[in-house]
Amino acid sequence: MTKPKVLISDKMDPNAARIFTERGCEVDVKTGMTPEELKACIGEYDGLAIRSSTTVTPEIIAAATKLKVIGRAGIGVDNVDIPAASAHGVVVMNTPFGNSITTAEHAIAMIMALARQIPEANARTQAGEWPKSAFMGVEVTGKTLGLIGAGNIGSIVAARAQGLRMKVIAYDPFLTPDHAVEIGVEKVDLETLLARADFITLHTPLTDETRNILSAENLAKTKKGVRIVNCARGGLIDEAALAQLLASGHVAGAALDVFATEPAKESPLFGQPNFICTPHLGASTTEAQVNVALQVAEQMSDYLVDGGVSNA
Ligand code: MLT
Repeated sequence: MTKPKVLISDKMDPNAARIFTERGCEVDVKTGMTPEELKACIGEYDGLAIRSSTTVTPEIIAAATKLKVIGRAGIGVDNVDIPAASAHGVVVMNTPFGNSITTAEHAIAMIMALARQIPEANARTQAGEWPKSAFMGVEVTGKTLGLIGAGNIGSIVAARAQGLRMKVIAYDPFLTPDHAVEIGVEKVDLETLLARADFITLHTPLTDETRNILSAENLAKTKKGVRIVNCARGGLIDEAALAQLLASGHVAGAALDVFATEPAKESPLFGQPNFICTPHLGASTTEAQVNVALQVAEQMSDYLVDGGVSNA
């Protein structure tokens, strides 16, 4: 019997290739291909395993005549054209849990970095300034953290924030009252969250409902001195409006791991007071990358070898 053939087209922990091989698939690792190169070779493969660098367009799908499954080692599948995949009968899978803790920890790190202005204090100290009187932080203890999105990652952030003695409120239309009680958060509407939160952190995918959820209008409804963290998806916040509110001092700090356009090589936010950012590192820990690589390879092999479907 011919073995199913899988292409890994993004840098991925080597455990993925090992699992594919052990589970009876043939595997090629070809990273850094141009879209034309991918289009030229994708016709050979039954499975395509990706992270975030490969964009799977309708053109790639049309050329993928044998393709049965695309596996995203991570949560978001924004880099895959789902309607095109579905129209060609290609199953798209993600790994919704493998990097949740890591992403939640990044959001908590951002909250702490904002509260104490650690990046700027570090840069100026290393530049020889010793600027002790320039930095006055705030405690997070007793502060209200507003979660926009209380799903898998949001719930982990809530638990960590409660450990830091924060009061957690959450806006999430999918959060049931029972689950809110279970995770110890107060379910509120968006207006209430905007008015009450000292820190806001976003943990929702980018959808038609969530796009620009922190619009200029909604940002203007936030409490003066709010600090905002986004380790979820670019496009959830109006970046130009956020830059203006940082400049005016209404927003006391903002930390973004994600931008509407990535890579973000320029932004109205760059250089604003108390703005810090990282280059979409939310899932970048050794542990998370091993987890998502193992999960994606197991799920894809299950499908290709036995027809089992999970997280599609
Ligand atoms: C994800 O969707 O899993 C994260 O944003 C990680 C990433 O894209 O690198």
